[in-house]
Amino acid sequence: MISRNYLLAAVFMAAAPLAAVVPAHAAGKLCQVQITANDLMQYDQKEITVGPGCSQIEVTLTNVGKLPAAAMGHDWVLVKSVDLTAVANDGLVAGLANNYQKPGDPRIIAATKIVGGGQSTSVTFPASKLEKGGSYMYLCTFPGHYALMKGVFNYR
Ligand code: CO
Repeated sequence: MISRNYLLAAVFMAAAPLAAVVPAHAAGKLCQVQITANDLMQYDQKEITVGPGCSQIEVTLTNVGKLPAAAMGHDWVLVKSVDLTAVANDGLVAGLANNYQKPGDPRIIAATKIVGGGQSTSVTFPASKLEKGGSYMYLCTFPGHYALMKGVFNYR
Protein backbone atom coordinates (compact mmCIF):
# COMPACT_ATOMS: atom_id res chain seq x y z
CA MET A 1 0.00 0.00 0.00
CA ILE A 2 1.31 3.45 -0.93
CA SER A 3 0.52 6.14 1.57
CA ARG A 4 -0.76 9.57 0.65
CA ASN A 5 2.33 11.14 2.21
CA TYR A 6 4.60 9.08 0.01
CA LEU A 7 2.75 10.23 -3.10
CA LEU A 8 2.97 13.86 -2.06
CA ALA A 9 6.67 13.54 -1.44
CA ALA A 10 7.19 11.96 -4.86
CA VAL A 11 5.28 14.76 -6.57
CA PHE A 12 7.18 17.40 -4.69
CA MET A 13 10.56 15.88 -5.54
CA ALA A 14 9.64 15.65 -9.21
CA ALA A 15 8.49 19.27 -9.30
CA ALA A 16 11.37 20.79 -7.34
CA PRO A 17 14.06 20.54 -10.03
CA LEU A 18 11.75 22.14 -12.58
CA ALA A 19 10.99 25.00 -10.23
CA ALA A 20 14.73 25.56 -9.76
CA VAL A 21 15.58 25.49 -13.46
CA VAL A 22 12.80 27.52 -15.07
CA PRO A 23 13.45 30.84 -13.30
CA ALA A 24 17.13 30.64 -14.21
CA HIS A 25 16.26 30.54 -17.90
CA ALA A 26 13.69 33.27 -17.48
CA ALA A 27 15.95 35.49 -15.35
CA GLY A 28 17.13 37.73 -18.18
CA LYS A 29 19.54 38.22 -20.99
CA LEU A 30 22.82 36.34 -21.19
CA CYS A 31 25.39 38.43 -23.07
CA GLN A 32 28.12 36.29 -24.58
CA VAL A 33 31.63 37.38 -25.50
CA GLN A 34 34.27 35.39 -27.36
CA ILE A 35 37.96 36.25 -27.18
CA THR A 36 41.06 34.39 -28.31
CA ALA A 37 44.69 34.48 -27.20
CA ASN A 38 47.74 33.19 -29.05
CA ASP A 39 51.38 32.18 -28.71
CA LEU A 40 52.47 35.75 -29.55
CA MET A 41 51.01 36.93 -26.24
CA GLN A 42 48.07 38.67 -27.85
CA TYR A 43 44.33 38.78 -27.40
CA ASP A 44 42.42 39.24 -30.64
CA GLN A 45 40.50 42.17 -29.15
CA LYS A 46 41.78 45.30 -27.45
CA GLU A 47 38.32 46.45 -26.49
CA ILE A 48 35.09 44.67 -25.55
CA THR A 49 31.71 46.33 -25.20
CA VAL A 50 28.82 44.61 -23.43
CA GLY A 51 25.25 45.76 -22.98
CA PRO A 52 22.68 47.11 -22.71
CA GLY A 53 20.22 44.84 -21.01
CA CYS A 54 22.53 42.04 -19.86
CA SER A 55 21.69 40.23 -16.66
CA GLN A 56 24.53 37.73 -16.97
CA ILE A 57 27.78 38.02 -18.89
CA GLU A 58 29.60 34.98 -20.24
CA VAL A 59 33.15 35.35 -21.53
CA THR A 60 34.73 32.45 -23.40
CA LEU A 61 38.48 32.50 -23.86
CA THR A 62 40.07 30.22 -26.43
CA ASN A 63 43.82 29.79 -26.51
CA VAL A 64 44.44 29.30 -30.22
CA GLY A 65 48.18 28.75 -29.68
CA LYS A 66 50.08 25.49 -29.48
CA LEU A 67 52.25 25.97 -26.39
CA PRO A 68 51.30 24.40 -23.05
CA ALA A 69 49.89 26.39 -20.15
CA ALA A 70 53.17 26.33 -18.23
CA ALA A 71 54.98 28.08 -21.10
CA MET A 72 52.33 30.31 -22.67
CA GLY A 73 49.15 30.04 -20.65
CA HIS A 74 46.47 32.69 -20.79
CA ASP A 75 43.52 33.68 -18.67
CA TRP A 76 40.98 36.49 -18.83
CA VAL A 77 40.61 38.57 -15.69
CA LEU A 78 38.27 41.54 -15.31
CA VAL A 79 39.17 44.35 -12.92
CA LYS A 80 38.58 48.05 -12.37
CA SER A 81 41.15 49.94 -14.43
CA VAL A 82 42.72 51.36 -11.27
CA ASP A 83 43.41 47.81 -9.99
CA LEU A 84 45.11 46.49 -13.13
CA THR A 85 48.75 46.74 -12.05
CA ALA A 86 48.20 45.58 -8.49
CA VAL A 87 46.21 42.52 -9.57
CA ALA A 88 48.91 41.64 -12.11
CA ASN A 89 51.68 42.04 -9.54
CA ASP A 90 49.90 39.94 -6.92
CA GLY A 91 49.20 37.32 -9.58
CA LEU A 92 52.91 36.94 -10.28
CA VAL A 93 53.55 35.28 -6.95
CA ALA A 94 50.30 33.29 -6.82
CA GLY A 95 51.66 30.62 -9.17
CA LEU A 96 50.13 28.52 -11.91
CA ALA A 97 48.26 26.35 -9.38
CA ASN A 98 46.26 29.49 -8.54
CA ASN A 99 46.03 30.57 -12.18
CA TYR A 100 48.38 33.45 -11.32
CA GLN A 101 45.53 35.06 -9.41
CA LYS A 102 45.78 35.96 -5.76
CA PRO A 103 43.31 33.60 -4.03
CA GLY A 104 40.20 35.44 -2.90
CA ASP A 105 41.33 38.72 -4.45
CA PRO A 106 38.31 41.02 -4.02
CA ARG A 107 39.58 43.24 -6.84
CA ILE A 108 39.00 40.46 -9.36
CA ILE A 109 35.47 40.93 -10.70
CA ALA A 110 35.52 37.83 -12.91
CA ALA A 111 38.21 35.45 -14.09
CA THR A 112 38.73 32.33 -16.13
CA LYS A 113 41.39 29.80 -15.31
CA ILE A 114 44.67 29.67 -17.22
CA VAL A 115 44.47 27.57 -20.38
CA GLY A 116 47.16 26.27 -22.69
CA GLY A 117 47.18 25.97 -26.47
CA GLY A 118 44.07 24.44 -28.01
CA GLN A 119 42.04 24.82 -24.82
CA SER A 120 38.98 26.89 -24.10
CA THR A 121 37.44 28.11 -20.86
CA SER A 122 34.65 30.42 -19.82
CA VAL A 123 33.35 32.42 -16.91
CA THR A 124 29.82 33.66 -16.25
CA PHE A 125 29.11 36.47 -13.82
CA PRO A 126 26.17 38.73 -12.98
CA ALA A 127 26.12 42.09 -14.72
CA SER A 128 25.12 43.57 -11.37
CA LYS A 129 28.81 43.38 -10.43
CA LEU A 130 29.46 46.22 -12.88
CA GLU A 131 28.47 49.87 -12.99
CA LYS A 132 27.29 51.24 -16.30
CA GLY A 133 29.97 53.49 -17.72
CA GLY A 134 32.54 52.30 -15.18
CA SER A 135 36.21 52.08 -16.09
CA TYR A 136 37.14 48.41 -16.43
CA MET A 137 39.96 46.51 -18.02
CA TYR A 138 40.77 42.87 -18.65
CA LEU A 139 44.18 41.30 -18.53
CA CYS A 140 46.10 38.06 -18.66
CA THR A 141 47.77 37.46 -15.30
CA PHE A 142 50.38 35.00 -16.62
CA PRO A 143 53.74 36.50 -15.58
CA GLY A 144 54.95 39.14 -18.01
CA HIS A 145 51.85 39.07 -20.19
CA TYR A 146 49.71 41.96 -19.10
CA ALA A 147 51.91 44.62 -20.71
CA LEU A 148 50.63 43.28 -24.05
CA MET A 149 47.61 41.31 -22.95
CA LYS A 150 45.11 43.84 -21.72
CA GLY A 151 42.10 45.65 -23.05
CA VAL A 152 39.29 48.03 -22.26
CA PHE A 153 35.98 46.59 -21.09
CA ASN A 154 32.97 48.80 -21.62
CA TYR A 155 29.69 48.06 -19.88
CA ARG A 156 26.65 49.99 -21.03
CO1 CO B 1 48.73 35.43 -21.40
